[in-house]
Amino acid sequence: MASSRVYTLLFLFAILSSFSSATEAEAEKEYVLTLDHSNFSEVVSKHKFIVVEFYAPWCGHCKSLAPEYEQAASVLSSHDPPVALAKVDANAEENKGLAEQFGIQGFPTIKILKNGGDVVQDYKGPREAAGIIDFLKKQVGPASFEVKTPEDVGSLIDDKKIFVVGIFPTFSGEEFENFTIVADKLRSDYDFGHTTNAQLIPRGESTVTTPTIRLLKPFDELFVDFQKFDVDVLEKFIVDSSIPLVTLFDQSPTNQPFLVKYFESPDAKAMLFLDFSHEHIDAFKSKYADVAGLYKGKGLNFLLGDLKASQAALQYFGLKEDQAPVVVVQNSKGLKFINKNVEVDQLAPWLKDYVDGNVKPFVKSEPIPETNDEPVKVVVANSLQDMVLDSKKNILLEIYAPWCGHCKKLAPILDEVAVSFENDAAVMIAKFVSSHLFCYFLASSGDDGSNNDIPSETFEVEGYPTLYFKASSGEVLRYEGNRTKEDIIDFIQKHRDDEVTATATATATSTESGKDEL
Ligand SMILES: *[C@@H]1O[C@H](CO)[C@@H](O)[C@H](O)[C@H]1NC(C)=O
Ligand SMILES: *[C@@H]1O[C@H](CO)[C@@H](O)[C@H](O)[C@H]1NC(C)=O
Ligand SMILES: *[C@@H]1O[C@H](CO)[C@@H](O)[C@H](O)[C@H]1NC(C)=O
Repeated sequence: MASSRVYTLLFLFAILSSFSSATEAEAEKEYVLTLDHSNFSEVVSKHKFIVVEFYAPWCGHCKSLAPEYEQAASVLSSHDPPVALAKVDANAEENKGLAEQFGIQGFPTIKILKNGGDVVQDYKGPREAAGIIDFLKKQVGPASFEVKTPEDVGSLIDDKKIFVVGIFPTFSGEEFENFTIVADKLRSDYDFGHTTNAQLIPRGESTVTTPTIRLLKPFDELFVDFQKFDVDVLEKFIVDSSIPLVTLFDQSPTNQPFLVKYFESPDAKAMLFLDFSHEHIDAFKSKYADVAGLYKGKGLNFLLGDLKASQAALQYFGLKEDQAPVVVVQNSKGLKFINKNVEVDQLAPWLKDYVDGNVKPFVKSEPIPETNDEPVKVVVANSLQDMVLDSKKNILLEIYAPWCGHCKKLAPILDEVAVSFENDAAVMIAKFVSSHLFCYFLASSGDDGSNNDIPSETFEVEGYPTLYFKASSGEVLRYEGNRTKEDIIDFIQKHRDDEVTATATATATSTESGKDEL
C-alpha cells in the first residue's frame, strides 16, 4: 500500500540524515542539471546514466542534500564514463505529472535512470558528497567483479558487509546470465563478485562443482549457499538472507545498510526500544532473539533499538523515553501495536498475542477538543469515527499539516465555505491535522503532540492538503477540484445526498439546534 511506503521513507530519512553531515559550501557554476516537464524526456533520453533528484523547495532534507549533491555533480562531471546529476522540483504544479510517473511519495527521492530512461532504479546510497561520488562511480562500473586472486578477496570482501559471490565452472550459460541480471538489478544494495575458484572464497571450505551463489554476511550464520537461478527466486533469496534475525539500531554507522534493508522490507516490523545500559539488557536480547527465531521469515522482521539512536523513531510513534522498554509492531498496512514498559517475560506472550490477532492497534490522537464551535470543526483521530465515519452528514474533511503553505492558503477559504453552510445542518466542514507526512522528522521538533493517525485504508494521503468528501450516504470521494470557495461549494452541492439532506434539514429546523445529532 502506498501509505506504508511513506512510513518507510520517513524512517529512511531519519536514519540517513542522522549519519550525514551537511556542509554549507556554495558552488558558483551549477553542475546539477535543472529539469522540468518541458525538457525531462529529451535530456534523459540522451543519457546512458543520469541521476535525478525529485525535491520540494520546502523540504529540509532536500536543502541539506543540495550542496552535497552539487559537489558530487561537479566531481562526477569529469568522470569517465560521465555521470550526470539532475533535479526536478516535484512540488511545482507543472511537474506533478513527472512526480506521478515516477511514483514520488516523499522528498527527496533520487532515481537512477539508465539507457535513456529505459531502466529506472532507486538511489539508495549515502547523502553526503564523498559517499554519493563513491556510490555512483560503482554504479557505472561492472555490477559484479571477478575474484581471481587472494588480493581480490582482500579488496572486495569486507567482514562488515554483505557480499554475494557466484561460483561458476565457466562464466557462461543461463545460470551465469541470470546471476548477472540479478547483480545489475541489486547492485545498489549489495556487492557482487564471481569466480571459478571456490577455494578463494572465505567461510566455506567445500569444493563447489555446480553453479552456486554464496552470500557472505557479518551476522547470524555468516554465509549461506544457494543453487537456484531463476531470476526472481535468486533475488528473493538475496533480499531475505540479508535481513538479520534481529537488526540492531544503534549509533554504529556499519549497521546503517542493514537498517535501510530492514525498513525497506514490506514485511511487518517488530521493534524493541530500550536503553542498552538497562540492567536486564542481556535477558532482553536473548528473549527477543528467541521470539525472533520463532516468527522471522513468516512476514515479521525484528529490530532492537538503543534509545540513544532511536529518538526520531520514538517521536514518530508518539512515545516517551520513560515508556521504554517498549515494543512496537507496525504491520504492512501501517497499523501500529504498542506495548509500553514491557518486562522481559512479557515479550514472547505479547508478540504471540499480536501474531494471533489479539492485540488492538494503537491510534495516535490529540485530545478531543472541549469546545468546537468555529465554523470549521476540528476532528482528531479519536473523534474521526463519531464525527465523520459514522456521521449522517455530508462532510468535507481537510487533512492538513501545520507547516504546509498550501494549507495556510486554503484555511480562510474553508472558513468561508463553512460559514456559507452554517445554517445547513446536513453539511459539515472539518479539518484534521495529520502526522502522516513527508519530511516529518525535520518539522517534528516543535510539533510534538500535534499528531493524529489517519486510517490509510479509508483516506489515502500523499500530500497536504488532501480534501475528502464523505456524503451522508457513506460514499467517500476525493476532492481534486480547484481550491476556491465557489468550486468547493459547487462540489458539495453536487455530491451531497439529497434524501438524507431533506430529512436532516427537517430535523435541524425542528430542533433548531443545528447541532451534531441527526
Ligand atoms: C529545462 O527547462 C527549464 C525551464 O525552461 C530550464 O530552466 C532548464 O535549464 C532546462 N534544463 C536543461 C538541462 O536544458
Ligand atoms: C533464468 O531465469 C529465467 C527467468 O526467471 C528462468 O526462466 C530460467 O529458468 C532461469 N535459468 C536457470 C538456469 O535457472
Ligand atoms: C481550475 O481552474 C483552471 C483555471 O482557472 C481551469 O482551467 C480548470 O478547468 C479548473 N479545474 C477544475 C477541476 O475545475
